[in-house]
Amino acid sequence: MSNYQRREPFQPALVLALETSCDETSVALLRNGREVLCNRIASQEELHARYGGVVPEIACRRHFEVIHPLLEEALQAAEVKLEDLDAVAVTHGPGLIGAVLVGVTVAKTLALRLEKPLLPVNHLEGHLFSPLLEHPELEPPWISLLVSGGHTCLVLVESWDSLRLLGKTRDDAAGEAFDKVAKMLSLGYPGGPRVQKLAAQGNPEAIALPRPMRGQGYAFSFSGLKTAVHRARDQHTPADLCASFQQAVIDVLVEKTLAAAEEFGVQRISLAGGVAANQPLRTALGRDCRQRGLSFFVPSFEYCTDNGAMIAMAGYQMARLGVIATTGLDAHASLPLQAWRTT
Ligand code: KG4
Ligand code: ZN
Repeated sequence: MSNYQRREPFQPALVLALETSCDETSVALLRNGREVLCNRIASQEELHARYGGVVPEIACRRHFEVIHPLLEEALQAAEVKLEDLDAVAVTHGPGLIGAVLVGVTVAKTLALRLEKPLLPVNHLEGHLFSPLLEHPELEPPWISLLVSGGHTCLVLVESWDSLRLLGKTRDDAAGEAFDKVAKMLSLGYPGGPRVQKLAAQGNPEAIALPRPMRGQGYAFSFSGLKTAVHRARDQHTPADLCASFQQAVIDVLVEKTLAAAEEFGVQRISLAGGVAANQPLRTALGRDCRQRGLSFFVPSFEYCTDNGAMIAMAGYQMARLGVIATTGLDAHASLPLQAWRTT
């Protein structure tokens, strides 16, 4: 059954969005594609911490438990009634399939009951459009460096309806590499913020780690880097290991992003996804963009890691393109960018 249908483009005044693709349940309300009325996030971090990573079965059960109370809370906080909604947006992939199913089921039921359009959102497009929440002036063309726990890619936003994937990781995502290095050093989960914190006390030049895939187009690879950290483990302090690892990741990400801007003659760069919360990465990419006269856009921390507001924004963009979901909308563990163009 087809997931998508076309209608005339529209601009829903009030969008409710649900996000349940991994270990954050989130409900957000977005007014006029601009104003975030609320962005409730129930993180499951503590539940998964003792396992050192997200346990899918636990994740979907928790989404199932909290999604309705969270929805009620969000509506109350924003002083909005279900009847006031103009559209419902939902992440329908990529993600943990059982987790995505929870959000999709609730969203479909709401849309059907309210007789409002359902906006199908690709989680990655949520991250991609997240800078628009605070920077409505951002317009195509721009290059987006999208770095999260599950994905690492460079996307050229050619126009609102044309996203070109320039390259992605061949193995681990950047966030996944941070998480694995943290686990290796027994720092706990999630690893990114912990590695960043310890790295602040170390020397980024202490260990000569590889810069994987440097000068080889826009593909990334982080699993070899992780192995190199493992090999250096006994000869160096955890702080130096973290600092050198983080610097190697930043060097590769920044270099490829700037190369893409130059090749495609693009003046605007955005950074998004959970790893965009990494302060040294934000600083490095921001500084290098400034030096080259490029505009740099990065969301506040709240909108970097998984959140409903970015799903509402991406849903709003779908409405503007006139793409809505059918009642047969499915949940997908993997989902290419702009799947609606081909299916
Ligand atoms: O976007 P996100 O919340 O979930 C996915 O869609 O994957 O990203 C989560 C990832 C985790 O791997 C986490 O370790 C990483 O983002 N992360 C960070 C930082 N904060 C979160 N990585 C590096 N530095 C940080 N400060
Ligand atoms: Zn994400």
